Amino acid sequence: MTTHPRGTAHLQADMTQTMQRYWDATAESYAHHEHFNSNDPQRRAWALLLARMFPAAEPKTILDVGCGSGFVALTLAELGHQVVGLDISPEMLRVCRAAADARDLTNLTLVLGEAERPPPDIGPVDAVISRHVLWTLPWPEQAVTAWTALTRPAGRVVAIDSLWSPQLISDTNGADYPPEVTRFLPLLHARDLNPARNVWRRAGLENVLAERLAWIDEVLRTQSPSDAAMMYRDLTFYFVEGTRPVTPGPDTRRK
Ligand SMILES: C[S@@+](CC[C@H](N)C(=O)[O-])C[C@H]1O[C@@H](n2cnc3c(N)ncnc32)[C@H](O)[C@@H]1O
Repeated sequence: MTTHPRGTAHLQADMTQTMQRYWDATAESYAHHEHFNSNDPQRRAWALLLARMFPAAEPKTILDVGCGSGFVALTLAELGHQVVGLDISPEMLRVCRAAADARDLTNLTLVLGEAERPPPDIGPVDAVISRHVLWTLPWPEQAVTAWTALTRPAGRVVAIDSLWSPQLISDTNGADYPPEVTRFLPLLHARDLNPARNVWRRAGLENVLAERLAWIDEVLRTQSPSDAAMMYRDLTFYFVEGTRPVTPGPDTRRK
């Protein structure tokens, strides 16, 4: 993995612009891939995971960072949560809005913005989630620190992501990004869960837990169309989560 010095503002702006262009251009086909029919086993597996993480019986306010065409945000909104979706790509947000409108969902708000600098007035939320976004963040610690700041004390910050095989990285450059972008993405090059775990700890989160999602791997590898199944053999899914510490209030005990 290539390490980098603390990025300058212009480097960060360039990277964001490159990625925004990439995701804008990809939005329609990404949505097509993600919004496949509701009986699709992959879709059912992801929906089950999300319902276990955020049960409908306990409605929350949840920020979905890098919501894209909205699979996670829409699923959580359908479970009854109050959801804010944030993304750098106006095209992704347009596609997500259309899907929310088609389902008459009024509990989903969409915001154009950066994972590393989410607008502060989004918070406080009960939880932050991102799926398939960590790998594409040049400065994941900056982003997760910002997500933590938006979360209520004892609230959760959760990400679902994947470890990529070196072969897949070299075949795809991450996501057809220019190589100079790909080499800057620390979690794209992670070989195990420790880098993500450390990002969570350094962002000040407690009770940090990172685990592989072997059952998701199994569904995606065995029940996807053959071209996707081949790609999934090179991805190992995991989640990482932690809670925002509860800052002790003023000491009210009698002296
Ligand atoms: C692989 S897609 C995942 C979309 C969605 N989370 C899902 O699970 O289907 C990555 C998304 O992250 C967004 N993204 C990438 N970098 C971002 C950043 N710095 N800030 C906000 N969104 C970002 C992209 O525009 C894209 O929509």
